[in-house]
Amino acid sequence: MELNLEFVRKQFPALGGDWTYFDNAGGSQTLKSVTERISEYLLTSDVQLGASYEVSRIAGNRIQEGFQFVADIINAREVSEVIFGSSTTTLLRQLSHSLVQTMSPGDEIIVTNCDHEANIGPWVNLEEQGIIIKFWEINQDSFELDPEDLKRLLSPKTKFVSLTYASNILGTINPVKEIIKLVHENGSYVCLDAVAYAPHRLPDVQVLDVDFYAFSFYKVYGPHYSALYGKKEILKTLPNINHFFISEDDIPYKLQPGSSNYELSYGYLGCKDYIEALVNFHFPEKDYLDIRSKAKLAFQLFADHEEKLTARFLNFLNKKENVKIIGKTTSDKNERVATISFIIDGVVSSTITEKVDKYKIGIRFGDFYARRLIVNLGLFDQNGVIRVSMVHYNTMEEVDRLIEILDPLI
Ligand SMILES: Cc1ncc(COP(=O)(O)O)c(C=O)c1O
Repeated sequence: MELNLEFVRKQFPALGGDWTYFDNAGGSQTLKSVTERISEYLLTSDVQLGASYEVSRIAGNRIQEGFQFVADIINAREVSEVIFGSSTTTLLRQLSHSLVQTMSPGDEIIVTNCDHEANIGPWVNLEEQGIIIKFWEINQDSFELDPEDLKRLLSPKTKFVSLTYASNILGTINPVKEIIKLVHENGSYVCLDAVAYAPHRLPDVQVLDVDFYAFSFYKVYGPHYSALYGKKEILKTLPNINHFFISEDDIPYKLQPGSSNYELSYGYLGCKDYIEALVNFHFPEKDYLDIRSKAKLAFQLFADHEEKLTARFLNFLNKKENVKIIGKTTSDKNERVATISFIIDGVVSSTITEKVDKYKIGIRFGDFYARRLIVNLGLFDQNGVIRVSMVHYNTMEEVDRLIEILDPLI
């Protein structure tokens, strides 16, 4: 079964315009169903939660439904394991504020040099409180994180390891299951930044056995809003960062200070509507399945389609002798997502994107806030990499048009 692009693209009104969006790792286009849910909330249940009157109860149930959907698609055991916040950056910082209170000076945290700064800065800042930060660096030739290097960094003092599930520049999917096992054998916690992974693949936090997991809805066809998962037994032990009178047992509320954004919490259910509609369109006989099983089917279609787009674009780049792909040069969907970065010998990356802009194709240059990676690879002075980031709604025709435009420029 192949993904029906006509069906898919109709669900994203912005795709009906004359722009081609290849900056999806920066942010995806929004589903119409998401905007409808947001409107529905604001127009019919925009009241404060927790009161006894009916509209307040309806609002509370709607928001709970939003949390439950996110719990379902990541396969959390319980809905109380999901925390909502304005961005992954904010959520990871909140987590660091709470977690550090369980640590002592001299304890160690390991971060990578290929993460977005959202998953480095909050941990590095804990140095001020005596925490020792160690960097797990990628291999400069393969652009991979080698678990053997991690083994050398782990120590009895390591309390926490945080890494990206997939890099927003390299596109590489890290072998996180193996890494999580390694970290757990050392008695430490693991956190995954899944912002660059979540638009492309469906995770399973239980199978991964990951302790914390964060992603942002605005990269997964929804609004600017984010979720952090934490294992219930760990969340229970974390200190409260909310008001003093919020109970230590009140998860996720003790780690989610202030009101969550109600309309966005409910609005993201528009993504559930999309998955339902997409599965009903492609597999009408599977209507009986639960939402997680439907999401699995949908993401399999996404992955297969994205792999083909990736293969086409990589094939073009691989033929150019003056191009270096910053990441894997192969399209295997188990090893990479459709985020492709490259540089051209002796060319400042921004000069290429400027030339493409006029064709109404959105690609991008830069460090994408993975500043340490770009500096480490010596690419800062040439304005970083050129990044073409695709998702399932992109078409082969769009890829071919980009190739046609890039070909004479390289
Ligand atoms: C891999 C990765 N992590 C974290 C972030 C930050 O997410 P947010 O904007 O929700 O803070 C981004 C944003 O581009 C990202 O690509």
